[in-house]
Amino acid sequence: MRLNGQTLQVMKASDENISDLLVLEQEVYSGRTPWNKFSFKNELQKHTNSIYLVVYEGSTLVAFIGMRMQAQEGHITNIAVKPAYQHQGIGTFLLKLMIDLARKNNAVQMTLEVRTDNEQAKGVYKKLGFEPNFVRRNYYISEHADALSMILKLSDIKKKEIIK
Ligand SMILES: CC(C)(COP(=O)(O)OP(=O)(O)OC[C@H]1O[C@@H](n2cnc3c(N)ncnc32)[C@H](O)[C@@H]1OP(=O)(O)O)[C@@H](O)C(=O)NCCC(=O)NCCS
Repeated sequence: MRLNGQTLQVMKASDENISDLLVLEQEVYSGRTPWNKFSFKNELQKHTNSIYLVVYEGSTLVAFIGMRMQAQEGHITNIAVKPAYQHQGIGTFLLKLMIDLARKNNAVQMTLEVRTDNEQAKGVYKKLGFEPNFVRRNYYISEHADALSMILKLSDIKKKEIIK
């Protein structure tokens, strides 16, 4: 992937990326790490129905995304872009990659959860066609925050031709 003249490498994530993932998480969530070392390790081991991608510029991890396939649904488990690299299309690019992959695996819909007050993320999801589905009260227990569950029907996406 090319971004502002720089080449970004998109790769499947492995255990070797965990320390970088924790640093990136701290940076995007103001020092917090919603997923600790063990959560990442556990997720990365679910090779059969999960896929995690990392984006590097040289040795710097700039973004990652995860998706779990369950039945005919692609569920985005996590996504983050390093603050200095946000607003340049990387998040949209990664989400489109996952949507495309889910469709190729016969998914009929995509889902995700987002904090109800995360306007930036909700904006990106809405642009891609995700719609509010329902609210999960106190989903982020430690923060006493609610999650909005969003859904994208992949049959709609075909009609709208969002993925080019
Ligand atoms: C949510 C998140 C992943 C989005 O990643 P991103 O790479 O910034 O997303 P994009 O660049 O694709 O889109 C962000 C905005 O930049 C705009 N944009 C995209 N490409 C652009 C470009 N080349 N130039 C200027 N703006 C651009 C998009 O239109 C979008 O605008 P909006 O804010 O009005 O919706 C990122 O903000 C993030 O990591 N946030 C912290 C972690 C988080 O909240 N994760 C989600 C948990 S559910």
